[in-house]
Amino acid sequence: MKRYIQPSFILIALGIMVLAVSLLWFVNILPLISYNKVEPEVGKLIGLSQANLSEPWRISMTEEITQQAKKYLDMRVIITDAVDSSERQVDDVKRLLAYGIDLLIISPTDSQILTPVVTEAYKTIPVIVLDRAVEGYDYTLYIGPDNQLIGRETGRYVSELLGEKGGQVWEIQGRSGSPPTIDRSTGLRQEIERHPGIRLVKTVTADWLRDQAEDTLSHLFKTTPTPDVIVSQNDAMAYGAILAAKKAAVSNIKFIGVDGLEGANGGLDLVRKGLLSATFICPTGGKEAVNYAWDILEKKPGIPKKIYLRTRKITAETVNANVDPYASFRHPRSNKEPIRLGFAQVGSESRWRLTNTKSIKDAARDAGIELTFIDGQQKQENQIAAIRSFIKQKVDIIAFSPIVESGWEEVLQEAKAAGIPVILSDREVDIKDDSLWATFIGSDFLEEGRRAARWLLSYIEHHPTPDGQVNIVELQGTVGSAPAIDRKRGFELTLEPHPEFRIIRSEIANFYFDQGRDVMKKILETEKRRIDVLFAHNDDMALGAIQTLESAGLRPGKDMVIVSVDAVKEAFQAMIAGKLNCTVECTPLLGPQLMKVIQDYFDGKELPTRIITSEEVFPAEVARTVLPKRRY
Ligand code: AHR
Repeated sequence: MKRYIQPSFILIALGIMVLAVSLLWFVNILPLISYNKVEPEVGKLIGLSQANLSEPWRISMTEEITQQAKKYLDMRVIITDAVDSSERQVDDVKRLLAYGIDLLIISPTDSQILTPVVTEAYKTIPVIVLDRAVEGYDYTLYIGPDNQLIGRETGRYVSELLGEKGGQVWEIQGRSGSPPTIDRSTGLRQEIERHPGIRLVKTVTADWLRDQAEDTLSHLFKTTPTPDVIVSQNDAMAYGAILAAKKAAVSNIKFIGVDGLEGANGGLDLVRKGLLSATFICPTGGKEAVNYAWDILEKKPGIPKKIYLRTRKITAETVNANVDPYASFRHPRSNKEPIRLGFAQVGSESRWRLTNTKSIKDAARDAGIELTFIDGQQKQENQIAAIRSFIKQKVDIIAFSPIVESGWEEVLQEAKAAGIPVILSDREVDIKDDSLWATFIGSDFLEEGRRAARWLLSYIEHHPTPDGQVNIVELQGTVGSAPAIDRKRGFELTLEPHPEFRIIRSEIANFYFDQGRDVMKKILETEKRRIDVLFAHNDDMALGAIQTLESAGLRPGKDMVIVSVDAVKEAFQAMIAGKLNCTVECTPLLGPQLMKVIQDYFDGKELPTRIITSEEVFPAEVARTVLPKRRY
């Protein structure tokens, strides 16, 4: 492909050269910056639109991207710096597009302002969004830190520092209202609430900036009794607070930061100097972005929608001992024997589950992974027994889809003690110790519930009920399972601001067709109020309920609006027949991604904490077009 340089681009290029000449040489950009010159063929040209090149964390992200791109012979990166101006970043993206990049990596200054231009870019090329998300789903892949987890980890460390006695905590937040600020704070609070002796007595905002933290804290130290611990949402602000404490001659405060960067007064340096008690690494995702950029441009299958990266605690003990903070998550394997995987499945309750089982078995066979598969037949005790048998057999790795969220600590401790890593597939667990599992691959169930509700809101807007009231019946999946809990919550959260939408009955049908049919029968027999909508946590239960409605002489899809989750082929057939109105996708095709993660793990790669699959919403109008392309 031949590329021509526009005159306006020279200005950006010159700016970049002044800021980071060495970096640019590194990525081979200089040969590209020449007016009207036809360049030799460039294989993969990546545009990186960076929010700013002044924050150390972003400089580190940019460096990571350029370093990693160098490992691919055929890849070039061109970088723009928006100097923290959203308007400028919008222009940057437009210029990069005009330049003919093959893929855009963007780390946005502001989610809202950047969304339209990212949507525009995504119409023509793949887009990877880094760190701060944009609104909606018009991008190829999001990669970012797990900020709630970071917050929870800081909270856990506070309780380690303060022990039983407890104490007082201040929190220094980044920019008010920004997603990392909210998520880190939520995580911190969740953990602190679990310890009655620990009290979060003050929260201040310092916009991620060292100087601002220093000024605010200097004032506070003069006017307010000092706390035992200060948790700062980044290391730069923690350093500002440390300087303020020094000026005010305040001692005995322990400081905790986030980022864990190298360099003078970076988090690691501050831990080495004993100024910070701990920093929590906030991975930039630069390396992962380049690797995925390559896979996307190579059109490799199984690209997820979202990837959340792991954090690690760095203290004086680990920072100086040259200990790899991710060591427990890296397992390079020299053994050339096939990997032995033990998989404990939930059962065979639905079409979704049958497809999921097939996907895992096929993918293991294709990847040359030796699979021992045990069907838990809908019982947690069977799954626990299966995991114990895998431990006994000394398999290399265990994966399982937990039927319910709680009750796994003991058996996962046993797997950990035996040195066998565990991957969560499809469903998550609710346990405090995140070190008991290596990674999670699956859907965002909360979002699925939200999507069902969003679709319903817009449908009812165009098809209002006679009295404006919308009476909803909900068919829930297995009690205590992640999809049942989260789909319910996501659905309710989205409908909360609309009191005319009321869930008048919510019954359990365990994801089964038969139970959907029978439970709906009972509802029809006992419910005297008008039912406008059925929300079923999966297609099988909706299809069962449809059978009951037809037997009762009702017209499903017309007399009652029906929305469900999974997007199996039978749901599309029901939509074409006019009996179902919408299905929200939840992909069961997790096998290839699971095997890739297992191979990565044994290649010694660092695994993210959560890998979220890419999914869509299918209203009845698109069913006929989409059905022939469906793989399950
Ligand atoms: O965990 C995924 C859910 O489990 C599917 O939505 C449902 O059909 C299945 O049984």
